[in-house]
Amino acid sequence: MSPPSRLLFVCLGNICRSPTAEGVMRAVIDDAGLDGRILCDSAGTGGWHVGDRPDSRARAEARRRGIELTHRGQQVRAPDDLRPHDLVLAMDRANLRDLQAMAPPEWPDGRIRLLRDFEPGAPPHSEVPDPYYGGDDGFAEVYDICVAACTGLLAHLLDAEG
Ligand code: 4NP
Repeated sequence: MSPPSRLLFVCLGNICRSPTAEGVMRAVIDDAGLDGRILCDSAGTGGWHVGDRPDSRARAEARRRGIELTHRGQQVRAPDDLRPHDLVLAMDRANLRDLQAMAPPEWPDGRIRLLRDFEPGAPPHSEVPDPYYGGDDGFAEVYDICVAACTGLLAHLLDAEG
């Protein structure tokens, strides 16, 4: 059996969007009976929240939907932070640019993508909006987007496996 694929979800602070995407993707993988075949982690391009739990509003929204976010904040800063991963999913275009600037030089194109590229029906270059400075409804919207995009992402990964 092939080794598990490793996914890294990346936003700015690693307390709102990317830990939500990580938790949702784990649930999607679990629901498909594929636990252990695909590993998920998340990180931020900024370092303000290293070691922190996800934002309480993100945790509350996740709990409302039936999952617990237990991640602790970490930062990606250098190619070696990306190398253990097979696919890196950026939440927005600024994250994508920052990640592309630190990509390992040997990486082929396509290992760093926008998460919403995998969401069926989403316009090209769609972003997961940053809910940090907004209200609780922003966290519900982020959660909904993550469910749609992560479901599409799993379908893509299974397709690619053949
Ligand atoms: P996230 O949201 O990138 O979805 O985790 C943010 C969290 C914190 C900050 C910015 C965005 N901040 O500036 O601390």
